[in-house]
Amino acid sequence: MKLWAGRFSKEADKRTNDFNSSIATDSRMYAQDIEGSIAHATMLAAKGIISAEDGIAITSELAKISAEIVSGELLIDPNAEDIHTFIEQTLTERIGDAGKRLHTGRSRNDQVALDIRLYLRNECDSVLALLKELFGSLVKKGEEYSDAIMPGYTHLQRAQPITFKAHLSAYTEMLKRDIGRVEDAQKRMNVSPLGSGALAGTTYPIDRQLTADLLDFDTYTASTLDGVSDRDFCIELASALSLIMVHLSRLSEEIVLWCSWEFKFIELDDAFSTGSSIMPQKKNPDITELVRGKSGRVFGDLMTLLTVMKGLPLAYNKDMQEDKDAVFDAFDTVKICLTTLVPMIDTMKVLPENMRKAAAGGFINATDCADYLVSKGLPFRDAYKATGEVVALCIKTGETLETLPLEEYKKICDLFDEGVYEAINLENCVRRRGM
Ligand code: ARG
Repeated sequence: MKLWAGRFSKEADKRTNDFNSSIATDSRMYAQDIEGSIAHATMLAAKGIISAEDGIAITSELAKISAEIVSGELLIDPNAEDIHTFIEQTLTERIGDAGKRLHTGRSRNDQVALDIRLYLRNECDSVLALLKELFGSLVKKGEEYSDAIMPGYTHLQRAQPITFKAHLSAYTEMLKRDIGRVEDAQKRMNVSPLGSGALAGTTYPIDRQLTADLLDFDTYTASTLDGVSDRDFCIELASALSLIMVHLSRLSEEIVLWCSWEFKFIELDDAFSTGSSIMPQKKNPDITELVRGKSGRVFGDLMTLLTVMKGLPLAYNKDMQEDKDAVFDAFDTVKICLTTLVPMIDTMKVLPENMRKAAAGGFINATDCADYLVSKGLPFRDAYKATGEVVALCIKTGETLETLPLEEYKKICDLFDEGVYEAINLENCVRRRGM
């Protein structure tokens, strides 16, 4: 029977039920729904809105229902309209009238807003833990290869020498900002909407601070209309998650490049690679490609949320039911990407000798050569031009800056002396720049 059976003279059409139902999505919030109901019933009893006996009957049976769902003894009915209805109906079947009193001074509108906040608050903790793991893995890899010299790139052209550690530290900085963004959003969303009712609060003498305290919120929403219709936190989180995916995708792209034969800076562990159905020689970086691809899902989730919300009049509208599929998918995706990337990076083999080989080609110490002439008193523009001529000569004769004889240097600029070889030594270049 529907919650609204009194007003209606007909059962809902099956197609209405199927279309309207959100149980497939919101059943994952059962623990939060029960936690919220226990806090609400505790408050109702404390304020004398329901009797102490009813309060105890409700809270103890809800705790049992929760334990039974966890153990698998109680199965969530896939035909229920949503998780709120399922829990309330199960409670009422078991304890009768007391169960029917649970929804006093509450609406599913503030209830669902509460459940999502509670659920996402936990999800933030999981993502934060995973981000910190990845951060730790990258720091560790960087430390292990703090003197592995590789080419730094601009335009994917070899640019200047850096260490592998310096390269990875760009990613740890991104991760620090990602962690900050999630923590920030998590703090801002930690406000209880309970007591907002359908939109206009309630006439019962409820205690919103008490439920907020019981559920570990910093405070409760100042506007009841905003309390039921605010989904900014979903959008903020999806946006923070999108940026995380931008970073994971950029890192993945580099790993795809690095494990190609063209680069061969790293070798992925067999346990975190895949083969081909036809080409026996292949070892593919599928994980990183999937991470790169899955970034699109998360951006899509963000766009879904923005679009769902942008035209809604106050307060609650059923459109908002679409929020959960999007924001849950964003969290699921980021979590599975991080969960797989961390061990893949932990087990990948770094090949510093190949990095060094790549660093030796491409004249990535040319800037240092020009800087050397500047130290001899030449203006930078003239030093740049002279070094350009040196590089052009090397390309023509098949030399490198390291192998070009001093007399050839001197023909281009007589300020060159033996010291140039010291200046263009890759280890020195890296050290002088603090890379
Ligand atoms: N399934 C709904 C949602 O996710 C719960 C709230 C329903 N409220 C209502 N007035 N129909 O948004």
